[in-house]
Amino acid sequence: MSGWLEGRRALVVGGGSGIGRAVVDAFRTEGARVAVLELDPGKSARLTAEAPDVPVTVGDATTPGANRAAVDAAVEAFGGLDILVNCVGVFDFYRGVGELDAETADAAFDDMFRINVKSHLLSVQAALPHLRASRGCVLLTESTSAYYPGRGGVLYVSSKFAVRGLVTALAHELAPAVRVNGVAPGGTLGTDLRGLPGLGLGDRRLDDTPGRAGDLAARTPLGVALTGGDHAWSYVFLASERARGITGGSVHPDGGMAVAAPRRERDA
Ligand SMILES: NC(=O)c1ccc[n+]([C@@H]2O[C@H](COP(=O)([O-])OP(=O)(O)OC[C@H]3O[C@@H](n4cnc5c(N)ncnc54)[C@H](O)[C@@H]3O)[C@@H](O)[C@H]2O)c1
Repeated sequence: MSGWLEGRRALVVGGGSGIGRAVVDAFRTEGARVAVLELDPGKSARLTAEAPDVPVTVGDATTPGANRAAVDAAVEAFGGLDILVNCVGVFDFYRGVGELDAETADAAFDDMFRINVKSHLLSVQAALPHLRASRGCVLLTESTSAYYPGRGGVLYVSSKFAVRGLVTALAHELAPAVRVNGVAPGGTLGTDLRGLPGLGLGDRRLDDTPGRAGDLAARTPLGVALTGGDHAWSYVFLASERARGITGGSVHPDGGMAVAAPRRERDA
């Protein structure tokens, strides 16, 4: 299988590591030209070394200026834009409302929603004139936490429900010119997902959790622990012409969390 995105022009926001980086690689394999907006200069330098044809803008996707600069760089390099993907996110390591004092909750709510939600909205806004012109598409990164409690704390889960809200509102507003869909990965191996600095968790990586691969497999009906490379195919599909009739939806590469209710013992 190859060529699903032949000739398409994409910008991946948060493409320096994890799921976003896997999307960059899969899109290029499928024939797309890809640009990236990434906050981390080290990840950006690594991407440039490994994929010199990818225009990388180093900047903060929670600001309009960085999103404009990345869109401009992509359009200058490719002559237009067909696909916007956003994979930016930060985690809260399951903090409950009862574990946050009022001042921490006040600041951490703003930070969580600025990074996880506003970055997605601003990237769409910056890309919109070009996506309208190309009748392109948007892919935002949700999570199982956009559908269920328990796999994040109160701030992460509510921010991911808000990303799901963006998918719904933007798909409604932008049809018929631009398709807007979500990808809702389950817990993922091999990413750099960090805790929110305002919660004192900025140096903590979810992927470093002891026993994570076994835990991920154990909690899903399919018994799988997935990587960014697994999820990237959902983005490829939704960005491709094969999905031309799909907007306002989500693909759930999560090992079957929707059917993870307690299971009946087999009859003896
Ligand atoms: N890791 C998981 O288990 C998991 C599960 C479900 C959903 N997700 C979601 O998938 C997305 C990608 O997460 P990941 O696990 O690949 O983590 P990651 O940290 O490897 O990827 C996020 C990327 O975004 C970059 N970034 C962060 N803030 C930025 C900003 N302000 N501007 C520009 N770039 C910024 C990071 O440097 C990183 O390269 C996130 O939205 C996350 O919530 C992750």
